[in-house]
Amino acid sequence: MSMPNEKTQKKTIPFIQAKKEKKEKIVAITAYDFPVAKIVEQCGIDLILVGDSLGMVVLGYENTIPVTMEDMIHHTRPVVFASKSALVVGDMPYFSFHLSNEESVYNASRFLKEAGASAVKIEGASKKRLKLVEALVEAEIPVMGHVGLTPQSVYHFGQFKVKGKEIDEAENIVQDALSLEKAGVFSVILECIPMEVARIITEKLKIPTIGIGAGPYCDGQILVFHDLVGFSNGYLPKFVKKYVDIHEVISRAVNGYIDDVKKGKFPDSNYSYNSKSGKLDELIKNEDQKRGKEKK
Ligand code: KIV
Repeated sequence: MSMPNEKTQKKTIPFIQAKKEKKEKIVAITAYDFPVAKIVEQCGIDLILVGDSLGMVVLGYENTIPVTMEDMIHHTRPVVFASKSALVVGDMPYFSFHLSNEESVYNASRFLKEAGASAVKIEGASKKRLKLVEALVEAEIPVMGHVGLTPQSVYHFGQFKVKGKEIDEAENIVQDALSLEKAGVFSVILECIPMEVARIITEKLKIPTIGIGAGPYCDGQILVFHDLVGFSNGYLPKFVKKYVDIHEVISRAVNGYIDDVKKGKFPDSNYSYNSKSGKLDELIKNEDQKRGKEKK
């Protein structure tokens, strides 16, 4: 009997949750298009989040607020096409889950029905948000929670900074995570909180915690793809480990191309087609003769 291959086996929510029990780390990453999703999928990533960070790293916005449902559906679909094994989670953008539960559940259902995702993520844990989580679960829509630094609250916080450094705030974050678990989320993202707070939450919850800027004690980790490959040569938060400088790699390639074209080195005959069959001989001869007459 052959054993299931971890890399290619379909990663379901029970599969992700079982990793916590088995003390195996969950590895998640963001992706927003087919080619990147295909690469990370082939590397054996467990979970792909089509994050609304899309707005900042792909669409060029200053923050995630302008991202729309249409943007998210458009980018989630190709990620799902590429993801044969990874669990795909769609991030609900700002104001797609803030009015009635009815409208929010409808918006969430679009990620499953139109884009093919397996779950959605929502930020926050207010009383209203917890009721929404219950309504989503009731509608068979699996939900991932997100506490700590929640980027959609950027105007409320004033700036992106570590949350939970003071006792009151830390206790609130622990309580938020517990309330989300009770409401029915299958996992929770812990963003930008002290590692000691992440450890307390991870030990208290039965569901897996996935950290970003939350230290080593979480059940899993997530990073924004564009950050870890070094797409931007600008500011990166302390928690990002840049595994490659893709900005430098791409710049080198494009500068080489510019240089070659300007100097007439590209394309040479290795990169050009020719007619070896002799079918064009007559045409070439006639044109050469015409050019010869013109010169005289
Ligand atoms: O939008 C996103 O990419 C996220 C991650 C940072 C967790 O929410």
